[in-house]
Amino acid sequence: MTIWEKKSRIVITCAKGIPPYLGKEVLSLGLPVVSEGVADIETEGTMHDAMRLNLFLRTGQRVLFLLESFEAEWPDQLYQELLQIPWEEIIPADGYLSVTSSVETPNIKDSRFANLKCKDAIVDRMNEGLGRRPDSGPGRDKSVIHLYWKGKRCSLYIDTSGEPLYRRGYRKIPLKAPMQETLAAAVVTATGWEGEGNFINPMCGSGTLAIEAALLALNRAPGLLRNNFGFMHLKGFDEPSWRTLRAHIRRQGQRTLNGRIIATDISKKAVEAAKKNAETAGVAHQVEFGVCDFSETPVPEGEGVVVLNPEYGERLGEIQGLKKTYRGIGDFFKKRCQRYRGFIFTGNFGLAKEVGLRTRRRHPFFNGEIECRLLEYDLYEGSKGGKHPIELRARREE
Ligand SMILES: C[S@@+](CC[C@H](N)C(=O)[O-])C[C@H]1O[C@@H](n2cnc3c(N)ncnc32)[C@H](O)[C@@H]1O
Repeated sequence: MTIWEKKSRIVITCAKGIPPYLGKEVLSLGLPVVSEGVADIETEGTMHDAMRLNLFLRTGQRVLFLLESFEAEWPDQLYQELLQIPWEEIIPADGYLSVTSSVETPNIKDSRFANLKCKDAIVDRMNEGLGRRPDSGPGRDKSVIHLYWKGKRCSLYIDTSGEPLYRRGYRKIPLKAPMQETLAAAVVTATGWEGEGNFINPMCGSGTLAIEAALLALNRAPGLLRNNFGFMHLKGFDEPSWRTLRAHIRRQGQRTLNGRIIATDISKKAVEAAKKNAETAGVAHQVEFGVCDFSETPVPEGEGVVVLNPEYGERLGEIQGLKKTYRGIGDFFKKRCQRYRGFIFTGNFGLAKEVGLRTRRRHPFFNGEIECRLLEYDLYEGSKGGKHPIELRARREE
């Protein structure tokens, strides 16, 4: 049975805090959630399912298709076990191979050594059988094999994504502190906005939140923006059916918006970059961009969400300045965003207190290793249960 025919366990990695969102996405694609880890979801399916996951997932990073699982304690045991796998049926001999790993076992101090052992076993077997072998190196744009070795348990996966899925390919101009695309997609999902009402994004930076919001609301599969995935570099890859699948999915992404997406930033350079990124993502016509202070952002009559990702500040001087900004966001919410739901994504909980409004919910996230929160505020006019968030701040200041 080839890898294209068998059903296997599929592990999808993601950032910490994302598994609940990723799990929902996996279920909505008709696949089961077998388990949920700190930074991954496990499902099961075929390579065809892995292809669909790569195309549709907004919040996952890598789709790993399990090849083999076995016990090993020493590098030579790993090498011998790997020699048993028919690599010549999986990787093209004239291709290019990269090995990545996550290793936590007492007899390996440096995971690069485990990678080397893996690569050696694969190319030795292919050389032996075919007299030829693929080139190898760190590039992740061809065939990628992933080793997960914890204690005595080794699991060998095909990384069907290759380059991680947050590299959607639309962010061409680097800016300071951009949010990863997959994290931005999870943040948009957490706001509950799906295209009804307006999506207002002051402090848009490189535009990631607004672009992900547009892709989500238009039902565009983010994978359509990429032309390269790991599975395309495996033996037996059926290019015609891949093209048919893409064309079919492209036709599905035709939803129209029932609201406006407005993205602004005080930096002209950021807005120019965001516009270019939106063009590359094919959603520029859906986003209204502007250069202004966040407090001047147009907020149309009606309902929707306002989402800000202000800087968190690292040095003391910066924090002092940012206190004023966070207070200003509270005022902006109060005065300009009534009937909207307000959201602030931040990794600085002290600064968040400066907003001065009562949070309705705090959605936990991680930005790299920084623990963050998406803080949610109800900004309705009038009171619910007699406790209006605006009144609360006024009381606190008395
Ligand atoms: C952390 S970055 C946002 C990153 C963005 N989420 C992305 O993915 O690129 C914060 C942004 O706030 C902008 N900014 C800072 N102060 C501002 C202000 N007073 N009004 C509007 N934008 C401001 C900065 O120019 C910067 O682009």
